[in-house]
Amino acid sequence: QRRGYHEKVLDHYNNPRNVGSFPKTDDIGTGLVGAPACGDVMKLQIRVDKETNTISDVKFKTFGCGSAIASSSYLTELVRGMSLDEAAKIRNTDIAKELCLPPVKLHCSMLAEDAIKSAISDYYSKNPKVQKTNLAGTGAPIPEVKVEATGSASM
Ligand code: FES
Repeated sequence: QRRGYHEKVLDHYNNPRNVGSFPKTDDIGTGLVGAPACGDVMKLQIRVDKETNTISDVKFKTFGCGSAIASSSYLTELVRGMSLDEAAKIRNTDIAKELCLPPVKLHCSMLAEDAIKSAISDYYSKNPKVQKTNLAGTGAPIPEVKVEATGSASM
């Protein structure tokens, strides 16, 4: 019994959802982030349905504390079926609230917010023609990426 962890954290920690990884095909966005404070690392991958721009599948691997594992496990349940726009709006505070994380563990949920944003931006970088979500949340548009500006058609 790990004292100090809320039962919701323990539930995800003992029975993490959606652990694993996908091959890096172009419908997969991969986010790999680390927490400088403690050195914990989280990898999150989303599979995007190109027709609907929604997350059809998601997997994670986290090398970190119980709260980081719980945050990523909960995140995978949360984002499945979401549009990329919706998923980009998830805040670490949403995760921390659901898991009842204490203030000292807030950075663990921050890792999950960083991971989903990083996965989305990786997907966009692989699929530059897709309408982008503004990940910064500042209202500023993300600059257009030039695609296939050069290149010759081959028969
Ligand atoms: Fe750093 Fe939890 S202690 S991610």
